[in-house]
Amino acid sequence: MLLDKFCGYINDLFSVQTIKDYSNNGLQVEGRGDISRVAFSVDASMDGFEKAAAVGADIIIVHHGLFWGQPLMISGYHRRRVQFLLDNEISLYALHLPLDYHKTLGNNTAIAESAGYRVCDETLYSNGDYAGCIAEHEKGFLIEDIVDNLKISLSVSPLKLFPDDYNNDLIKRIGVVTGSGMRYGIDAARMNAELFITGESSHAWYHPIVETGIPCLLYGHYISETLGLKRLLKKIKKDLKLEGVFIDTPSGM
Ligand SMILES: [Fe+2]
Repeated sequence: MLLDKFCGYINDLFSVQTIKDYSNNGLQVEGRGDISRVAFSVDASMDGFEKAAAVGADIIIVHHGLFWGQPLMISGYHRRRVQFLLDNEISLYALHLPLDYHKTLGNNTAIAESAGYRVCDETLYSNGDYAGCIAEHEKGFLIEDIVDNLKISLSVSPLKLFPDDYNNDLIKRIGVVTGSGMRYGIDAARMNAELFITGESSHAWYHPIVETGIPCLLYGHYISETLGLKRLLKKIKKDLKLEGVFIDTPSGM
C-alpha cells in the first residue's frame, strides 16, 4: 500500500487534522513509499525502532512521537533516533490525543470496555475540554471484579489502588483517563463516577482525589496506553490486509 494512502486512511479514521493537541500528530518521519508491515509502539524510542527494524516494519505508529509543538534540535539522542529511521527508510506516524479520544478504538474506551463497562455519550470534561470517558454498567462490579476483568486485557494488576479503606460497594459508573491523567480524578468524581481509572501516579493529586471519596486505580502510563494501538492493529489487518506487529517496550511506569 502506498504510504501516502495509508496516512490518509489514519488521518481520516482519527480526525487527526481537527483535534487540537500539543503533539505534532501525523507523519513525522517519511520512509519508503510503499508499505506492507506496520509496527505499533507506545513510545518513540531506539529500543522500539530497533525491534521494528528487526521485524521488517515499514512504518511505526506511536502514541508518543518525536515532535511536540516546539522545534527540537536534531542533536544527541534525538539525532540518533531520526538518523536510524532515515537510514532504515522506516516512517514514523504519531497518534497522540486522537488515539486517546476515539470512540471505539481509543485508549480510554478500550480500558473502560475491558473493565466491563459501556462507554456513555457523555464524556469526561475538565474545564470544558475532553479529558476521558465516562462508562456505566447496569448492575455494577466490585473493584476486585474490575481488576480481574482488566487483567484479561492488560495482563497485569494495578500498580496502586487507593485509598486503602475504600468503600467496597458495587460500582455502576466509572471515569477513565489513560496516561498522565491523575489530575482528572476530581472531574470524574464531580461527574458522579464511583471509581477513577488512570495511568501514571501524581503525588500532588493524591489527597484531592482521596477527599472526593472515590477510589482510584493506577495502571501506569505505559500499560494504560497499549490497548488503543492493539485495537488499531487488528483493524488495519482486517480492513487494509496489512501485516501488523505490536512492539512492547514497557517502562514499568
Ligand atoms: Fe500518554
